[in-house]
Amino acid sequence: MSKVYQPHDRFFKKAKEQGYRARSAFKLQAIQARFHLIRPGDKVLDLGAAPGSFLQLIGKLVGLKGMAIGIDLKPIKDLKKPNVKTMVGDILDDNIYHQLGIGRFDVITSDLAPSTSGIKSLDAGRSFQLNEQVLKVAERYLKPGGHVVMKAFPGAEHDTLLKKAKGLFKTIKVFKPEAVRRSSREVYLVGLHLKS
Ligand SMILES: C[S@@+](CC[C@H](N)C(=O)[O-])C[C@H]1O[C@@H](n2cnc3c(N)ncnc32)[C@H](O)[C@@H]1O
Repeated sequence: MSKVYQPHDRFFKKAKEQGYRARSAFKLQAIQARFHLIRPGDKVLDLGAAPGSFLQLIGKLVGLKGMAIGIDLKPIKDLKKPNVKTMVGDILDDNIYHQLGIGRFDVITSDLAPSTSGIKSLDAGRSFQLNEQVLKVAERYLKPGGHVVMKAFPGAEHDTLLKKAKGLFKTIKVFKPEAVRRSSREVYLVGLHLKS
């Protein structure tokens, strides 16, 4: 089987056909199909949300009685959905969460990816720093029993991250959706039921 990078693979084409802004939507769709995390009426916070394909799917899943808020360093083009809001900001800046105006969330999703330097250990370290913050935000802003989904790259600090996540959630699953490129080490950590 060829490992050649194919920018226009079948998930890219499927995203175009279905009007999603990125193929990432199919990663979250597979996670949702497996774990049923997001329900109608839920409030969901999406970290690292640009260009907005997770938000497009989350908006459908929560419906008009629910709410999705996405944060990214980059502006997200208006999704034109009354139940989806976006903010520009750094998820590492604790002040940004005070502006959300929603108490606690049912689910937090993170597809955060640091800008890569090409130096493996440095990139893994940056990803770990972002994911440590995701767990901090989950601890502070998830409802008891809430769930988290976060992108991670197995590396030196992966076990530390897993250990921290296991301390916060009743169940931790590591899942690699089909839409993740074969050549990528990317996986998603799914934390089910925040301990109260
Ligand atoms: C793979 S993309 C997310 C794709 C998105 N889930 C979608 O479905 O359209 C990763 C995003 O993480 C964002 N990001 C990286 N570091 C960040 C930070 N410190 N604060 C906010 N966003 C960040 C990047 O700007 C980038 O847009």
